[in-house]
Order: sequence, then C-alpha cells, then structure tokens
Amino acid sequence: MTTLPDTVHIETATPAAIAQAGALLRDGRLVAFPTETVYGLGADATNDRAVAAIFQAKGRPSFNPLIVHVADPADLERLVHVTDTARAVIARFWPGPLTLVLPRRANSPISLLASAGLDTIAVRLPDHAVARAVIAASGRPIAAPSANRSGAVSPTLAEHVAESLGARVGLILDGGPCRVGVESTVLDLSGDEPALLRPGGVSVEALEEALGRRLVRPTDHSDAPKSPGMLASHYAPGLPVRLNVTQPAPDEAYLGLGAMDCTANLSPTGDLEEAAANLFALLRALDRPEFSAIAVAPIPDHGLGLAINDRLKRAAAPRKPA
Ligand code: TXA
Ligand code: MG
Repeated sequence: MTTLPDTVHIETATPAAIAQAGALLRDGRLVAFPTETVYGLGADATNDRAVAAIFQAKGRPSFNPLIVHVADPADLERLVHVTDTARAVIARFWPGPLTLVLPRRANSPISLLASAGLDTIAVRLPDHAVARAVIAASGRPIAAPSANRSGAVSPTLAEHVAESLGARVGLILDGGPCRVGVESTVLDLSGDEPALLRPGGVSVEALEEALGRRLVRPTDHSDAPKSPGMLASHYAPGLPVRLNVTQPAPDEAYLGLGAMDCTANLSPTGDLEEAAANLFALLRALDRPEFSAIAVAPIPDHGLGLAINDRLKRAAAPRKPA
C-alpha cells in the first residue's frame, strides 16, 4: 500500500504495518516508531539522502550527529570498533536506554551525515519490541533522533509525533506510551576514559557501579560540549519555564513532584522513574494560553532526576529569537 505524502499516516504497530515500515525505510523514506525512551524519527543510516530528510523534517542544525539503532549487538561489528568496556556495558544494559559512542570503522557503511563527519558513531539497541522489529524488517541500521521539530518537547505518544511532524513523516507507527519517557543516556567510550555526554534513562549511578569507576561528566570540562546535541535551549514548550519553584504565581501552571498542591504532578509518590515517564507529556499538557508560565517544583538531582533536571534546564534556557 502507498502513503499519500500530504496526509498524516498513523497506524497501530501490527505485523503488517511493521513490514510496511521496513519497506519504506529501505526505500529511503522516514518512519516514526516507538522506543522505550521516546518516539524516534527513523531513516536508513547508510543512505545520505534519507538521513538528510531527517534533518529537513526536524528543522535540525546539521552539525548535530544522530544515534544509529540496531536490532542485534552482532550488527555493530561492521559499523564501529567494539571495545572491551563496550562489550561489558552492552552485556549489562542492552537492550535499554543507553547509547554508546564508539570509534567508527574505516569501511563503516554509516552515512557521514548521520555522524556529522565525526570519527565516532553513537549506537543503541532499544528495549522495545516494535523498535527492534522495525529495524530488523528494514535490514538496515536506523538513524533516529526524537521524532519532533528541533528544540521542541520530545514525543512520548504517537499523537505527539503527528502534532509536531505530521505529513513530514511517511508513516507513524503507534505503539502506545513510551515506558521510560526521557532519552537514552549517552556514554562516550571512544576516548581514554568513559565520559557521560548526556544523562538519560540509565542512571549515572548504575553505570558507575557497573564500570567500577567515576564517569567524566559534562561539567568536568568547561570548553565546547563534545556532544553537539547539547544545545542550550532544547526540549522547550511554548510557555516560559521556571525551575525550583516552591511558590508559583497564581497565573502559572505548577508542575509538582511528591505530595503537594499543583496543576499536574510528575509523581505523587515522588518516584523519579514515574516522573521521567510523565515529564514530556505533562510539559505538553500544561503548555496552554491560560497560563503565563510553567513553574516546576524542585527535582532531586540523583537517579533519573539527573536526566529530568538536564531536560528541564534546557526547557528553561533563554531562547533564540524566532
Ligand atoms: O532515547 C534516545 O536516544 C532517542 C530514541 C529515539 O532512541 N534518540 C535521541 O536521539 O535522543 P537525538 O538525536 O535526539 O540525540 C542524539 C544525542 C545528541 O546529544 C548527540 O549530540 C549525541 O547523541 N551524539 C550522537 N552521535 C554522537 C557522536 N558521534 N559523538 C558524540 N555525541 C553524539
Ligand atoms: Mg531530541
């Protein structure tokens, strides 16, 4: 079956729809699909034109490299050099919300545009049956950033993708809400020391425990960020966002955590995993004209709280004039 380019094509992730997604991807088209973290906007990572279409659809600065998704760890070997540390981390955390930055193989088939010309490639194996089935059906490594316009709130439902990207995507596969709700942790294993580039769905504590050492953090070096995706303003709703608020103004939406009086609660019991899963959907829900701003209660800075605070800081960062 064919898709009309000027309509939004959203389908439940049935085996037939997954097979169609695989065929579209092989054909160089864009497909949005669910992962355990957020919905991804996928393209064949070996096809420069398909990868270019991702940047075009997202309105994303092209210097920002993409994560390449695989369905099986064995698929990595021809893309990147898999280090011993990488093998250990993969055995423990894959499939799951952990992206590894590894040295690119000389004959790697991955589009240079996907890795923004870097000599490394970010790879991940998602813990979501639909994501893995789509990748396997395509028979290709799949480049997939979050399926939203650049800088906006990441999608945790198929409807969010439809609102943000609409007809820019050949097919949106609906697999329900994303379990984790924030993007994968990005761990750089290409250098001398393992370095955290982006906090995410696997906590820093769990990684440090598995590696038996402290990770180099983005805050350890004040020079230009190595992960170019770490733009200041990002994940931003339309309304201004204020952080660490204990006394919201009467016309502000108050996003709370734990037992408190608020407009919406990330987790009434203060559970940080539940809070991460709810974060992007609640930022969207509160982004309404009757409020002057979204005020956010303090979030503890440990476990998944680190990833939540990272996203919130970017949502609250000064925006470039439109
Ligand atoms: O959970 C996720 O990771 C989602 C789902 C769809 O898998 N994807 C996602 O992709 O968040 P994206 O493109 O929004 O974020 C990619 C991150 C950026 O921070 C980017 O700079 C970093 O990974 N990255 C990609 N390739 C890199 C590389 N070679 N070196 C350093 N950082 C890299
Ligand atoms: Mg994103």
